[in-house]
Amino acid sequence: MISDQDIGFIKAQLKMPVVLCGMMGTGKSHVGRELAKVLGLEFKDSDSLVEERAGRSIADIFESYGEKKFRESEQKVILQLLEQPPQVISTGGGAVMTPGVMEAINQKSISVWLKTDIPHILERVSGGEKRPLLKEKDPEKVLADLMEKRVPYYARADIHIETTQGDVRKTLSSLTRALSAFLKKDNV
Ligand code: S3P
Repeated sequence: MISDQDIGFIKAQLKMPVVLCGMMGTGKSHVGRELAKVLGLEFKDSDSLVEERAGRSIADIFESYGEKKFRESEQKVILQLLEQPPQVISTGGGAVMTPGVMEAINQKSISVWLKTDIPHILERVSGGEKRPLLKEKDPEKVLADLMEKRVPYYARADIHIETTQGDVRKTLSSLTRALSAFLKKDNV
């Protein structure tokens, strides 16, 4: 259950954006949108903003310009979002690996790592145009390799939430409890 007391406390105390990071398929966009709703904040998704600015899909950007260009645009979008008033921001799974991005997230937001195990990620991300990295070869191996490289970065997030269970209400309940506790502890 989401506690009204936690929500009230977060609304009163939050002075920074909340940034969701983690692998693809961990629920960043879904959870982020719902979190923004309960907190009465705007929701921004770095992938959607990159697509909007380019006027192309992520798959198209990868194909036409390459991953490097995608990462540059993603970095720019995230650094700009971090300068805006409190809101909920969902980031693409690989963003934390671009130099400077995780450092900026750590400095300018309350960061949340959403964690899901690989079998559940695989179930959730099959098909679709949004994840060109998984089209390459054995997607399970690709995911495992990416995860290994990224975990040390995700682990630097302020709050870690398990989302393997896949129930957004449960995730929101843990997340709002953790956010409220974090704000009490660190008085951000
Ligand atoms: C990527 C994750 C995707 C998207 C792009 C690259 C990654 O976002 O940014 O396909 O490197 O893990 P989601 O994490 O929202 O799926």
